[in-house]
Amino acid sequence: MVQTDLGDNRGGLVKGKFITIEGGEGAGKSTNIPTIELFLQTEGIEYILTREPGGTQMAEEIRKLLLSPRKEPVSGLTELLLMFAARSQHLEEVIKPALECGKYVLCDRFIDATYAYQGGGRNLDPGIIRTLERLVLKDIHPDLTILFDIDPVAGLQRARTRGELDRFENEELDFFGRVRAAYLEIAKSDPMRCAVIDGSKSQYIVAEELKNILRIRLPNDA
Ligand code: TMP
Repeated sequence: MVQTDLGDNRGGLVKGKFITIEGGEGAGKSTNIPTIELFLQTEGIEYILTREPGGTQMAEEIRKLLLSPRKEPVSGLTELLLMFAARSQHLEEVIKPALECGKYVLCDRFIDATYAYQGGGRNLDPGIIRTLERLVLKDIHPDLTILFDIDPVAGLQRARTRGELDRFENEELDFFGRVRAAYLEIAKSDPMRCAVIDGSKSQYIVAEELKNILRIRLPNDA
């Protein structure tokens, strides 16, 4: 088993480490995930890369439902429940088995996205999210979360050059302002787990900062 100084907040069978990548639209998650993968590969750490919503066949189908623009108004609660339905399947089918056999799990978005988008963006009661979190996550929580932070004006400008907009990317600026504030609040309240990277900096600087964080939080003893 790989030993690290990452906090281990689970007992029992879980041996791998759980790393989540978060951030608003256009903050740089997708651009920088290969840097994390290269780091893990260089350290000889076995890992899987997955994403939310999605990561299994059924959860990817739920992702399509969630992301495709539709005329019918979608209630915040429906959206929240679908996020957790996808997450439940993903946890049971992919995340837990990988962690139990000692692999690292690198996940593009996880529970913090729910607090940021459905809690912050949609103004849903965080108490409801916490109840679902307890029910679905049980004892699985990220050990390290890297948050790419960017002003939504700049982030949306980047994201909206990528082609057709999904249901979230179509939201107005205020929504993304609330998402950003919620993410930063989470990072502030849990600094041992969360590292924030300024996504507005040059790609070179962002990648260097990211490697630094990984060096500090994932010691070279794989
Ligand atoms: P992305 O993975 O391409 O960034 O797109 C996923 C979208 O889903 C993104 O706009 C954020 C949103 N999302 C939520 O609203 N809540 C969640 O819990 C998760 C995982 C994603």
